[in-house]
Amino acid sequence: MTKKIVIEVKDLTKTEGTKYSEELEKGNILFFPQIPFDFPQEEIDFLLKSKQSSSSNRKNIAYKPQLDKVTNHDTKNEEEKRKMHTILKHFSERTLQFLKDLLPSYAPHWKLDYASFRPFQEKGRKLRTRARNDLLHVDSFPTRPMHGSRILRFFININPKESRNWITSHPFEELVQMYGGSRGVFFPKKVDFSFCERWMLKMRFLLKQLGVVKQIRSPYDHFMMNMHNFLKENEDFQKNGYKQHWEFPSYSCWAVFTDQVSHAALSGQYALEQTIFVPQKALLFPDRSPLRVLERSAEGNMVYPLS
Ligand SMILES: [Fe+2]
Repeated sequence: MTKKIVIEVKDLTKTEGTKYSEELEKGNILFFPQIPFDFPQEEIDFLLKSKQSSSSNRKNIAYKPQLDKVTNHDTKNEEEKRKMHTILKHFSERTLQFLKDLLPSYAPHWKLDYASFRPFQEKGRKLRTRARNDLLHVDSFPTRPMHGSRILRFFININPKESRNWITSHPFEELVQMYGGSRGVFFPKKVDFSFCERWMLKMRFLLKQLGVVKQIRSPYDHFMMNMHNFLKENEDFQKNGYKQHWEFPSYSCWAVFTDQVSHAALSGQYALEQTIFVPQKALLFPDRSPLRVLERSAEGNMVYPLS
């Protein structure tokens, strides 16, 4: 069962050390009843008024911190473009500063991923099955192989009138016990450390550096993608699986390892989110990570030595 760890902003000090990373790695959700940093009302108002194309297939608006670039913003108005860029950049910077103080042992090692603004109502959103947010799943990104790093996400519900509602289900370890090795989520071939295999890998990583190969997926990444798809397509699990309901009211925030806690967003509109990748070496309890859980079950290495 996933626990809600309530954190009041007034109680936060800079001396918490690893207390909250520990809760996250146990598979719990950190919940903040209020936004724990400044977020000007005029910025929230701008986001609430932003119109995306009426098609619910449109993607969320993304901000890529490394490139300092916004993608998928559906407007030709230059002023609106500039404002969206400024607001998402500020959101990303404030979130990262806050998380640095909250999770100091992760910060020196983490890798920034995208921030996003989610303007669509999740309830009734018409998406293909594997893209649906309202079906239980663990996160895995087809375009960003993790090689064992963890997916940490921080959310804000900026909707002044409506809560965001989630369900969570079995943690990753139980999902592997329930389904690992079966059709759809078979255990991938273990990493082979032979001279020949290492040489081939070196060549592939070299080709990636040269830009010839776009990405290299480890056996771990294949398994996580398969688990993500398998869960969403498993009607029995979606219907009869264990469920825990979560309500995130207006202006509340939450942080969770979404590769470990299976989750679905049933309803809600207007949320912001920042994703961070936390590598194995930064974890307090690497044995609890999906990578180590999978390696124990599959009895072999699931990431490459060069990853
Ligand atoms: Fe997700």
